[in-house]
Amino acid sequence: MSKLNAIDLFAGAGGLSEGFLEQGKFNFLAHVEWEKPMVDTLRNNLVKRWNYTINHAKKAVVLFDVQKTDELLKGNWSEETKKLYEEYNDNLIVTKGLDGVINNKKVDVIIGGPPCQAYSIAGRAQDPKSMKEDYRNYLFESFVKIVNHYKPSVFVFENVPGILSAKPGDKYIKEGNIYYDD
Ligand SMILES: C[S@@+](CC[C@H](N)C(=O)[O-])C[C@H]1O[C@@H](n2cnc3c(N)ncnc32)[C@H](O)[C@@H]1O
Repeated sequence: MSKLNAIDLFAGAGGLSEGFLEQGKFNFLAHVEWEKPMVDTLRNNLVKRWNYTINHAKKAVVLFDVQKTDELLKGNWSEETKKLYEEYNDNLIVTKGLDGVINNKKVDVIIGGPPCQAYSIAGRAQDPKSMKEDYRNYLFESFVKIVNHYKPSVFVFENVPGILSAKPGDKYIKEGNIYYDD
C-alpha cells in the first residue's frame, strides 16, 4: 500500500511527526517550524534515524513563520522575509514555497500542534491580561488557511482543552467551530 502524504505544522523537534513516522504509513512532504534548534534536531533525526538524505531533510523541514502563510505556500519571498529565513532553507521553498516542494502531490493528512500557552487554563491564570493579547491565540487561522489550500482528507489539530473555553477576542474556537463575532 502506498504511504499517505503528510505535512506537520508547528513541528517543534518532531515529536508528532515521529509518532506518525513510526506507524510506517506516512510520507512527510514538509514539516514547518520557526525555531532553529528544533529544526536542526528534526533534520538530524530524519537523516540519522529515518535514513533520509541531508538534501531531503533540508528541503522538507522548513524553518519559517507559519503566520506568513501566503509566502509559506507560494514562495516569492519579500526581501524582509529573505533576510530572516533564506539562509536556513532550500531555494525551492524561497522561490516556490510549499507548493513547489509538494509539486502537485495529493496532501492526504495535515497534522499540527500549535503552542498551547495562550489557551491553557494555567497560562491564562498567570497572565494579568489572561493571554488575550498573545499572538498565539490566532495561529489556528494559519492552520485553517493551509488546510483549506491543500484540502487533505484528514487533519489533526493537537492542543489543550482550554482552547474550547478561551475567548481572547472576536475570533475563537468553540465546540469544533470557529466563530468570528462582528
Ligand atoms: C507545542 S510545540 C509543537 C510540538 C510538536 N508538535 C512536537 O510534537 O514536538 C509548538 C511549536 O510551534 C512553534 N511555533 C510557534 N509559533 C510559530 C510560528 N509562528 N511559526 C512556526 N512555528 C511556530 C514553536 O516554536 C514550537 O516548537
